[in-house]
Amino acid sequence: MTARVTVGTDPPYDVVIGRGAVEAMAPLLERVAQVAVVASPSVARHADDVAGYVRSQGVGVMRVEVPDGEAAKDLRVANHVWAALGQAAFSRTDLVVGVGGGAITDVTGFAAATWLRGVPVAYVPTTLLGMVDAAIGGKAAVNTAAGKNLVGAFHQPELVVCDPGALATLDQPDYTAGLAEVVKAGFIADPAILDVIERDVAAVLRRDEDVVTDLLTRAVRVKAAVVGADPRESGRRLVLNYGHTLAHAIERDAGYGAWRHGDAVAVGLVYAAAVGRRRRFGALDDATADRHRTVLEALGLPTRYDATAWPRLREAMRVDKKSTGDRLRFVVLDALAEPAVLDSPNETLLESAYAEVSG
Ligand code: GLY
Repeated sequence: MTARVTVGTDPPYDVVIGRGAVEAMAPLLERVAQVAVVASPSVARHADDVAGYVRSQGVGVMRVEVPDGEAAKDLRVANHVWAALGQAAFSRTDLVVGVGGGAITDVTGFAAATWLRGVPVAYVPTTLLGMVDAAIGGKAAVNTAAGKNLVGAFHQPELVVCDPGALATLDQPDYTAGLAEVVKAGFIADPAILDVIERDVAAVLRRDEDVVTDLLTRAVRVKAAVVGADPRESGRRLVLNYGHTLAHAIERDAGYGAWRHGDAVAVGLVYAAAVGRRRRFGALDDATADRHRTVLEALGLPTRYDATAWPRLREAMRVDKKSTGDRLRFVVLDALAEPAVLDSPNETLLESAYAEVSG
């Protein structure tokens, strides 16, 4: 059984979720002459499966190897992909497929967006974070000396294939970190996600396939709805940034790579709830605010950061690309599943809320 979520961009595309979801590529493969599978060594087995399926459909495949992890998001890596596409005389009737975590799908998307000013791309994310976040939305970027994700493109994929079977090989800390984005989706738009987690945390943590498929489908639906309404990030997408303002500051403060993105998001979510509950008008109710910490801690996610870090974190928030000039735009909840944007929140409020995550 697979679930299909349509992202309402123009043209729309599907995210197919479930065991054997790779077969959803069949109609796409009927239209292409050759496929380049871009993957890193650690996901070679998944890339083999995808390449095998493509071949079984009578389409030629070439493999392009890129480095694991964040190191993949580099112009030299994009250049390596372009070189491979050039050698195979890749055209707009061909298809690039990125297999791996968020860094791999990002660099693959960037290379595909820029080769011949855009060739079709599909993603087979192999991490939870990739499935619920990085592979959906069409933003693809690399890191440069100027900063992370500053050079990129909007390039929506033709298809995203999420097979929960791929998660079996993921390290537990990476799996758990990915759950922070799932929890975020629960708070901003689909509280049933929180109910599913609270009902049986153990099933979530042991990656029970039915539970994971349900959570994946729900979280993908949340992201798909927001991206469909705002494909080029002109406003509404900001709600996806819930918990991310402090998270980005933590990642920067700790030194990139020292904290998993999802772990930082977990702290950021508790902080965002703390800001929400302290607002003078439209304050978030205590039960919903407290629920952030309870659900994240039940999953084993961190909810605290260095007590002395506030001044450094505040400075890091100032340079976050999601703020407009000097103005900080901070996502809070008015109530469960009712996100709102605070423009230039009060400094005392921001600082006092940090007490809830300081430790
Ligand atoms: N690649 C993630 C996004 O577009 O949101």
